[in-house]
Amino acid sequence: MSASTSSASAQEFYGRWARLYDLIARRTPGIPRLRRRAAATCRLEPGDTVVEMGCGTGANLPYLREQVGPGGTVIGIDFTRQVLERARDLTAEYDNVHVVRGDATRPPLADVNRDVDALLATFVVGMLEDPAGAVDDWCDLVGPDGHVVLANAARSDEWYAPPVNAVFRAIVVLSTPPTTKLRYEDQPHLRLDRKIDGAHARLRERSSAVADETHVFGVVRLTGGRLG
Ligand SMILES: C[S@@+](CC[C@H](N)C(=O)[O-])C[C@H]1O[C@@H](n2cnc3c(N)ncnc32)[C@H](O)[C@@H]1O
Repeated sequence: MSASTSSASAQEFYGRWARLYDLIARRTPGIPRLRRRAAATCRLEPGDTVVEMGCGTGANLPYLREQVGPGGTVIGIDFTRQVLERARDLTAEYDNVHVVRGDATRPPLADVNRDVDALLATFVVGMLEDPAGAVDDWCDLVGPDGHVVLANAARSDEWYAPPVNAVFRAIVVLSTPPTTKLRYEDQPHLRLDRKIDGAHARLRERSSAVADETHVFGVVRLTGGRLG
């Protein structure tokens, strides 16, 4: 599948399921705690600027706003129009949270004439053609002493992993656009694992200090890097 075809099908998928996705993204047990932790891992100070790539329906944006306060700036970028509408509704009370339509691999940040202190991407790199390359670009965008934070669901390594991984595999198959299994070239959960491993590994390579954690029964990996 070409990059533009997969990006069109991702937008169609998240556009169609925006309302349901929003519920899952904000109400699944364990996920709000993970989002607060991911925002804290960005190590923001009041007044800082933070960018979220693939912000979806905006579930992380209030936590990021909490970290930068009224004097900071939060920019959420996503390429799916319908999820951005929900993100705008969710953050309507904040005038320093900006939700922008654009591609996370070519972020529309030319007009942002301030340093980016941190960048967050949760459950996004698995959807990119070249996740490690995107992480490199994001690290370049943030620059020395800034932070890049990734959170992604991948198979668990915990002792109780087999049933958790079986559920995880079913969720990935059902939630990966396109949803018809016949169209997959290889097994989606294995392809997703490879992409996520590559992205987190690249972030570790680019960082001078790293925080690695797992959450939600070991299924969600959180990696924060302070750039060297
Ligand atoms: C699984 S959702 C995660 C949303 C949000 N980060 C969260 O944690 O709930 C993936 C999101 O990434 C967006 N996305 C995927 N690839 C993208 C790209 N290249 N540029 C911008 N957004 C992208 C999709 O539109 C979707 O909203």
